[in-house]
Order: sequence, then C-alpha cells, then structure tokens
Amino acid sequence: MNYDIVLLPGDGIGPEVVAEGVKVLQAVGNRSQHTFSLTRDVVGGAAIDAYGTALRPETLDRCKGCDAILFGAVGGPKWDAPSAPVRPEDGLLALRKGMGFYANIRPVKVHPLLADSSPVKKTVLEGVDLVVLRELTGGLYFGQPKKRWSTQRGRRGVDTMRYTEREINRILRVGFEVARTRKSRLTSVDKANVLETSRLWRELAMEMAHEYPDVTLEHILADTCAMQLVLNPRRFDVIVTENTFGDILTDEAAVLSGSMGMLPSASLAGAPSTGGRRPRGMYEPIHGSAPDIAGEGKANPLAMILTVAMMLRYSLGLPMQADVVEQAVDQVLVDGYRTSDIVTPGTQLLSTTDMGSRVANLVSAA
Ligand code: IPM
Ligand code: MG
Repeated sequence: MNYDIVLLPGDGIGPEVVAEGVKVLQAVGNRSQHTFSLTRDVVGGAAIDAYGTALRPETLDRCKGCDAILFGAVGGPKWDAPSAPVRPEDGLLALRKGMGFYANIRPVKVHPLLADSSPVKKTVLEGVDLVVLRELTGGLYFGQPKKRWSTQRGRRGVDTMRYTEREINRILRVGFEVARTRKSRLTSVDKANVLETSRLWRELAMEMAHEYPDVTLEHILADTCAMQLVLNPRRFDVIVTENTFGDILTDEAAVLSGSMGMLPSASLAGAPSTGGRRPRGMYEPIHGSAPDIAGEGKANPLAMILTVAMMLRYSLGLPMQADVVEQAVDQVLVDGYRTSDIVTPGTQLLSTTDMGSRVANLVSAA
C-alpha cells in the first residue's frame, strides 16, 4: 500500500522532531512493502513569515486529500505580542476545526524506567496507564463572541464557552467506546457546580451511560481531577473532558510520564478503530515548540516517534508496524539511552538525531 502523509513541521523544535519521525517512518517502509508519499508544507509562525497567514487554504485542502497529517509544533516568542493580528496557534486551531478533528486522544503511560525523571514519587507513578480524550473543536477556544474592546471604564475582553448536545455527545461516545477497549472505567470531567455547559455535559453523559451498561461512569470536577492526577493517578483509566479542561489536565498528566517529550497524541474525526474503517487524523506530540532549546539537538524525538506509531495504528491500519515502533522506543530506553530531558546518572545522553537514528535502526532490523 502507498499512504499519503502531509508533514507540517511548524516552528521551534517541530522540524527537528518531525525529521526523526520521518526517519522512523522510512524504516517502517524498508521493513515492509508499504510506501509513504510525504508532502511538506508550512504552518504556524513559519507560514506567517512566508505567507502572512498561519494556515493557507491550499494547505488545508492538501490535508483533506491525505491519509494522515504529521504535525510538529507551532509558536514562539517572535510571534507572541498580545497585539499580534495573527498568531501561529491560529493555524493549529484552524486545522483542527477545518478538518473536523474533534477527538483528541492523549495516552499517558508511565514507563517504569523513566519514573525517576518525574518529580512525582515513584510509588505514586507505578502502573499509571490512562488516556485523556479531549474535545478539540468547541468550547472556549471557538465560542463567539470572542473579542477585546475599550470602554470609558477600561478595556474588556470576552470568550464564550458554548457547547451543543451534538458536540458533547460525539466526544462522550468516543469516551465510552475507548473505555470499552480498556478497563471499562470512564471518568467524565466537568465543572457542573458552576458552569451550565458542564451541567449539560453531565446530563448527556448520564443519558449515554444507559447504552453502555458494561462501562462504569464517574463524574469528577475539573479542580478535583487536577488534584487526583498527582495524588492518585492510578485510579484513572479513560478521562473524557471538554477542550480547555483537557488542555490543562493533559499538561499536568504529562509530568507523570517523566517528560512532555515522551507523550504522543492523535486528533481524529471519530472514534479510533483498530479494524476496518480508518478515520483520517492529525498526529502531533504534545510538547509544543520549545523555542528555548530549538536548534540545539536537545529535543526528545520519542514523543514524535510514538506519535508516528499512533498514526500507523489509527489512520493507516498498520497496528503491527505500530507495535514494532513502540517496542523500538522501549528498547532504546532499556539500553540506557536518553535525551537531556530524561537523562539520569548512569544513562547515556544522546542528541535528537542520534536518538532518532537508534530507534530507526531497531525498526529496520526488527
Ligand atoms: C495543545 C496546545 C495548543 C492548545 C496550543 C498550541 C494552541 O497547548 O495542543 O495542548 O491549547 O490546544
Ligand atoms: Mg496544551
């Protein structure tokens, strides 16, 4: 099979980690009969610099015609002024919205060998294996009105938290479906003690639960969830939540895994299926553009490489190749290789490209 992949490296460390993801993808090609046609395009700050817009319409069109999108990261101080008319992040949001990628899947698994890299106690981290499903195209990020203006009594700003039944139901359904493939425990996160959108969310979750008698549903408030994630993260299996809560909670959850540089994500226009129908998706590490270390060979490419594994599994229907990639990542860690974010005494420090090459070699040889 041939697969069409659009590469959107973006800004900061985005291009560096995408290059390593591509290396590993090519290694998958070498060991299988599959080929990957890669088309590169610009997004975020890189697109603002080149074209004055964070996402060109032709880029979106290209994405609509491909099998999957591999995304690096966007953003950086260069484009960060509060008064900037266009921001790199606009490109990412427009892509999510334009492609209808409403379901963001962020798995958080603590690798036993990396437990020492996390500031959280090892006893708390052991056995943590959870998935956060974040609603990605609604809520505060997109609700209108959204603006700033001046009045005689000072400046004002407004963002709008708005959700429809349809938007909530489709992400809840992904939550129930994913929970079914795991330990059948679903935690719905809201702020129903304060927010109307959350009360609607909770009501709909309770209604849908009747369709999934095999799944245990619990509701938890977002602030309590933030606390429980560091107190007792093992209690979670699948978490489903709205856009902003999901953004905040997944950064917190990333700390559990030792480094943000280890966590992949997928954004899909439907539930992930391991069988027949394959949803198109965008695959991106959750770490962001890290402008402070860009160009220094310090970035950890493992999140991107694990992101490639998610792409192979969910959008390309190649679960066995995904396993090979994940096992190779496991192996480099077992062999004691680390990038600067996860290095500990007794392990060997590698640059971004050396780490990528090690994984790619293991994949080719598998
Ligand atoms: C993320 C990021 C983005 C978000 C930013 C870059 C717009 O933080 O994917 O979590 O807030 O969704
Ligand atoms: Mg975020």
